[in-house]
This record gives sequence, C-alpha cells and structure tokens, in this order.
Amino acid sequence: MDDSLALLISETEIKQKVEEMGRKINHFYAGQDLDKLVVIGILRGSFIFMADLARQLTIPVELDFMDVSSYGRSSVTTGMVRILKDISEDITNKHVLLIEDIVDSGLTLKYLSKILWARSPRSLRICTLLNKPSRRRTELEPDFYGFMVPDEFIVGYGLDYAGKYRELPYLAIVKP
Ligand code: PRP
Repeated sequence: MDDSLALLISETEIKQKVEEMGRKINHFYAGQDLDKLVVIGILRGSFIFMADLARQLTIPVELDFMDVSSYGRSSVTTGMVRILKDISEDITNKHVLLIEDIVDSGLTLKYLSKILWARSPRSLRICTLLNKPSRRRTELEPDFYGFMVPDEFIVGYGLDYAGKYRELPYLAIVKP
C-alpha cells in the first residue's frame, strides 16, 4: 500500500458488508408492491459499490446513473448541486433507490432528493456504503448504510483524493 495511506476497511470486510446490504435491500423491497426498483448511482464515487451491490439484488431492477457537481465547496451552505448528467428513466410513480459512496455533510443528497421528489416517484430511499454523521450539516438519515466512518479523508473503492485511488479494492485513510 501507498505510504501515505492507512488501511481502514479491507476488501473482505467490504465484500461481506455489501452482501449483507444486498440481503437487507432484497428483503425490504420484497415486501413492497414493486414493479421494478430504479437504482440510481451518483457518479463518480458510487460506481464500484453500485456494481457490486447490483449483483446482490434479486428483486427486479433498472440501473441508472446521475452525475452531479456541487457549486464549488464554498456553496456548502446551500448544498446546491448542478446536474451534469441526468437519469434516462422516468421515475414517476416508481420506487427509487439512490446509491452513494459516502454521506458527509448530507447536503448533496438533501438537494438531490428535493429535485427527484419533484418528479413524483412512489418512494425515494438512500443507500450509502459509508456514513460520516459527525460531518452532517443537515438532517439526513440514509435508509441503508454499510459502515459508520470517522472524520478522516477516505479513499479507495470508488472514492478519490484529487482524482487518485478510486481503483483501490479496499478503503483507506489518507494520512495527514
Ligand atoms: C462525494 C460523494 C457524495 C458527496 C457527499 O462526491 O460521492 O456525492 O461528495 O458529500 P456531502 O454529503 O458533503 O454532500 P464528490 O463531490 O467527491 O464527487 P465524486 O463522487 O465524483 O468523487
């Protein structure tokens, strides 16, 4: 491993957790009146988690992606996001599950949820691999999450630091 990184969560632990999350999601939606679940990955960080989680799902799903960017870090007070790529699906009256790699301040998802609720989905829920509640700046509780993580800079398994480390199969902390 790179000298500037410290292991946080191993590949094996991630695999077990993603399987467990898949089981929970299958079980949860099995009890719903479900035609199909629209699963939306928020690019770019979620792509690896999304790919692994999707392969654990046994309920009928449609996979879609959305790319958003915040209006610069100075805008964290509003959390306004700009849609760079929208989903292809019409989500009117559909059950929707948003997939994130990490919920930090919660502002991205708060704002994105508002945009998506305006399209009248039947339900809209949030699934994130990592949950960092110590940094929350708005009330936002993911419906499904994998790991609670400390307030450290985390990379790997989709998460980057200045564009680096997304491809790592494990999660690591960038040493200060
Ligand atoms: C990260 C992450 C979430 C958001 C969470 O994305 O994937 O979308 O930040 O932060 P918040 O809870 O404070 O709003 P990032 O902007 O790093 O883009 P990326 O996924 O393309 O790496």
